[in-house]
Amino acid sequence: MKNLENKVAVVTGASKGIGAGIAKSLAAAGASVVVNYASSKAGADEVVAEIVNNGGKALALQGSVTSLDDLNRLFEETKQSLGAVDILVNNAGVYKFGAIEEITADDFHNQFNTNVLGLLLSTQVALKNFNDNGGSIINIGSVVSSIAPVGSSIYTATKGAVDSITHVLSKELAPKNIRVNSINPGMIETEGTHTAGIIGSDFQVEAVRTTPLGRIGQPKDIASIAVFLASEDSAWLTGETLLAGGGVR
Ligand SMILES: NC(=O)c1ccc[n+]([C@@H]2O[C@H](COP(=O)([O-])OP(=O)(O)OC[C@H]3O[C@@H](n4cnc5c(N)ncnc54)[C@H](OP(=O)(O)O)[C@@H]3O)[C@@H](O)[C@H]2O)c1
Repeated sequence: MKNLENKVAVVTGASKGIGAGIAKSLAAAGASVVVNYASSKAGADEVVAEIVNNGGKALALQGSVTSLDDLNRLFEETKQSLGAVDILVNNAGVYKFGAIEEITADDFHNQFNTNVLGLLLSTQVALKNFNDNGGSIINIGSVVSSIAPVGSSIYTATKGAVDSITHVLSKELAPKNIRVNSINPGMIETEGTHTAGIIGSDFQVEAVRTTPLGRIGQPKDIASIAVFLASEDSAWLTGETLLAGGGVR
């Protein structure tokens, strides 16, 4: 039997990048997976098609993590189509870098709304639809909360908040047998890092130079850790922030 057979997983922001990689790996491990997206229906449909072609079960569901109405609808549809939730991956996130002189209130609200409020609201609504036996919540943080890169004050603040929320909720949800852990990736090649102009930039060269394992990551480097944290193999881990950056710390 596969590791995650009979489990239901919701991955926010799974139409591309790290979330898409995690959704595919959870499905390959046997979970039925909701591939959530905000606007990229085509991307989410592609992820679902790949999972189904490989014999897995998946469903693309639209919804912004910043909207309670969307989240209520999404988790209701999940419950009706697949059953109660066992695994939530809070992956949806946005990033924008800039020196303190350049940042705006919009940058602040945009990143905090998605990366922090979105994570809190997704967790709140998911909990109403969680399996009574418990499960696993996996938050996607970032190594930036440890290494604090220049020009990342807003983004790093959001990921510092993610670390704190993981710590708090690991205690708050332990009585329900829900484990809460974070994966904090280093630089990963995704649609997002391509669009932001990070891939191919001096920033990438510097990241490779300062990464002990000598490369940047790929979504599958994070996806295998998510499968571990979703499964009973990590039953004794909660409240952890796993640095997943090829040795960057
Ligand atoms: N890539 C890296 O180097 C790196 C490193 C450390 C941590 N991370 C974290 O990893 C996560 C994913 O990053 P990525 O590079 O894979 O990003 P990406 O390629 O830009 O993909 C972002 C995903 O999030 C979704 N999304 C954005 N806003 C949303 C919202 N309001 N509601 C629902 N979904 C939303 C997008 O959906 P649509 O396409 O439909 O808008 C997309 O599926 C983020 O939390 C990021 O902070 C990334």
